[in-house]
Amino acid sequence: MATAAAAATNSFLVYRPSPAWANVATASSIRLPACAARISCTAVATPVPSSPAAGAAERGVYNFAAGPATLPLSVLQKAQAELVDYRGSGMSIMEMSHRGKEFDAAIKKAEADLRALLAVSDTYEVLFLLGGATTQFAAVPLNLCASPSDPADFLVSGSWSDKAFKEAKKFSAASVAWSGKEEGKYTSLPPFDAIKQNPEASFLHICSNETIHGVEFKGYPEPKNKSGILAADMSSNFYSKPVDVSRFGVIYAGAQKNVGPSGVTIAIVRKDLIGNAQPITPVMLDFKTHADNASLYNTPPCFAIYICGLVFENLLAQGGLAEVERKNAHKAGILYDTIDASGGYYICPVETSVRSLMNVPFTLANGGDFEKQFIAEAAKEGVGVKVTPTGSR
Ligand SMILES: Cc1ncc(COP(=O)(O)O)c(C=O)c1O
Repeated sequence: MATAAAAATNSFLVYRPSPAWANVATASSIRLPACAARISCTAVATPVPSSPAAGAAERGVYNFAAGPATLPLSVLQKAQAELVDYRGSGMSIMEMSHRGKEFDAAIKKAEADLRALLAVSDTYEVLFLLGGATTQFAAVPLNLCASPSDPADFLVSGSWSDKAFKEAKKFSAASVAWSGKEEGKYTSLPPFDAIKQNPEASFLHICSNETIHGVEFKGYPEPKNKSGILAADMSSNFYSKPVDVSRFGVIYAGAQKNVGPSGVTIAIVRKDLIGNAQPITPVMLDFKTHADNASLYNTPPCFAIYICGLVFENLLAQGGLAEVERKNAHKAGILYDTIDASGGYYICPVETSVRSLMNVPFTLANGGDFEKQFIAEAAKEGVGVKVTPTGSR
């Protein structure tokens, strides 16, 4: 299980003293948050320590950082076993041509398993992209709006959808259809009929799980724009539960939270939305470039895609996304139950109905000093805490 910190400027990596064989970082120093920090925990789609794949806990490590998360142990072990000699080729998958038969088979299998897990129909393209989810903040309006004066609706439920909105304003007439900033400082979602949708908008954009604020959509709004298009940044709950892909025009996600290492971004795009990019669209941001070239227009992040493929195999072996969701609900439930039973010692600011199964933000009632004490006492219990600056994560 990996957990993520949603501190404004810091995140925590919590580990237990590790077995000698485990190559995990040890905290040589503890740096405390400069100011009262919101602490959050992210439960990811990695399995609990049982078959088919043990989790990070078996290695004695608990990753409370919101960035790259832990991977199933069996995935790491398989990658380790294949690292030097990939399936009898004599080479690492990192060393071979991305147009050779080995990588071709790996990317095709990754896509097939990805499709199987979410029942993605062939009316959608699956694209393996570079540039992080952040690049998609520009790519989505560039591909879905005919010109920068085309309107687009943004539901702003936290800092990630706010970033997406601000980037989209450069390439569309983006406007905020609802914002949770003032009302509850990003602790809730609106009733869907309260979203002020523009019928002329090219799409409605949401962030399905706000990684910092811990607000997660449990259902999805009906897009009321001219083309009926809903676009979603699913970076932090991608493949953590079943999703009806047919509700969406575009889904995109950085892989590093739930399905692989950083370096690859996955987009699932309805085919009829491809091929209409604005003329100024850089070739690498045009969905058509990648759809026409099976994600091999340029050199893709081969190793990252290969690892994603191993994770998809693992998720299938676990029983698919319904089972993954069950495990995630169990793991998040342990945290929420502890917070709720703490008599106000721990506080989760997020409305119960939209609490994330992926990241569980909490503060300590008495703020900064208590948080220092929390970290110090965790260390005394043999749980090391390393506080690392992570910008907005
Ligand atoms: C919800 C969400 N969207 C977008 C991003 C940005 O992703 P990337 O770092 O892959 O650009 C993140 C990163 O943490 C995120 O959590």
